[in-house]
Amino acid sequence: MSAAGPVVMRPDLSAMVGYHSPQVDAEVRLNTNESPIAPPGSWSAELAREIGRIELNRYPDRRARKLREALASYHDVSPEQVFCANGSNEVIQCLLLAFGGPGRKALVFEPTYALHSHIARVTGTGVCSAPRDESFRIDPDAAVSLFGAQSPEVTFVCSPNNPTGAAEDPGVVAAIEVAAPGLVVVDEAYGQFARWSALDLLRDAGPGGHLVVTRTFSKTWAMAGCRLGYLVGTPAVVEACEAVALPYHLSSLTQAAGLLALGYAGEMERRVAAIVEERGRVAAALSGMAVTTWPSEANFILLRPDAASSSEVWERLLSQSVLVRDCSTWPGVEGCLRVTIGTPAENDRFLEALDSALAGSSPAGSSPAGSSPERSSPERRAPGLNGTPT
Ligand SMILES: Cc1ncc(COP(=O)(O)O)c(C=O)c1O
Repeated sequence: MSAAGPVVMRPDLSAMVGYHSPQVDAEVRLNTNESPIAPPGSWSAELAREIGRIELNRYPDRRARKLREALASYHDVSPEQVFCANGSNEVIQCLLLAFGGPGRKALVFEPTYALHSHIARVTGTGVCSAPRDESFRIDPDAAVSLFGAQSPEVTFVCSPNNPTGAAEDPGVVAAIEVAAPGLVVVDEAYGQFARWSALDLLRDAGPGGHLVVTRTFSKTWAMAGCRLGYLVGTPAVVEACEAVALPYHLSSLTQAAGLLALGYAGEMERRVAAIVEERGRVAAALSGMAVTTWPSEANFILLRPDAASSSEVWERLLSQSVLVRDCSTWPGVEGCLRVTIGTPAENDRFLEALDSALAGSSPAGSSPAGSSPERSSPERRAPGLNGTPT
């Protein structure tokens, strides 16, 4: 018999709810900001051929050189400025392992993407936060005074911000970069949907800058299932991330998938343009409904029903097989729902379903799926301690 007592989790994490994004069946899934359409068929065919050529008995190229070179040329930077990982969440984890940790702090502007503070805590990094203003923008003066008081080693700027949708102005990001005492991580998971990118600031800053831009293949590139993200920063930041990443963390399959995808940049940009156009159409339709919305530069819109209970609206949407994100209990966006922009047909389904949900009804014959605990509860509980990652 073992002499050891019960296993004890790290005390600083024992109250934490692990984040597992809930997955609920619905015909129209507009809850996780994915691409509504699959990657191009010819990309899939090329990938299938490439998989046949990969020596899967061998470890992958540890430094993902070809992929980094291709990303560097796509962004007009050098390969030494690019680090790739399994989704931008892993990129963020590497940044916090390298630059956060015990005795250090990360600053977030709430409400924002919950995984910044979640991963900070998991890596033993302290978290300090500052509120956004009433239009969910960062007040640069408040940020600068916080730098003096808190001196965070890592500052996160999510732009466009999840779940609120606004992108910060270039001047705000530049002011934060100048004043921040440590690394400034601009999370651009939705960067291609916005009117500008902090990559422009980064290119201007030169080798001494401490700006990092993170990006993902999960949204615009329609590859959420592949798990691929990257950062562009200084070579010193890239080396630090390489020092903490597990050896061979990025599989040969993922590297091949990303490399091939970059050959479809034109197609990706056309898709982004189509989603931006749809976003305008959905926003215009919402402006005629009993909801408050906020301007979005991402592939989703945050909305708050003016009179109806958002939880009930969420249930009524689900009963029509339309799944959106229920943010009603997330701090700072109470009473809100977030809808991903889908295909035109999906958006029409959403708008029609919302119209009847706001009127307090679901069309006759629709089953109250949301009232079944199996279907509704996990989604509703999802934010748990830390909000939502998607
Ligand atoms: C703002 C933001 N950053 C990062 C991510 C993580 O993306 P991934 O890990 O799929 O690259 C998400 C996912 O929804 C996000 O919304």
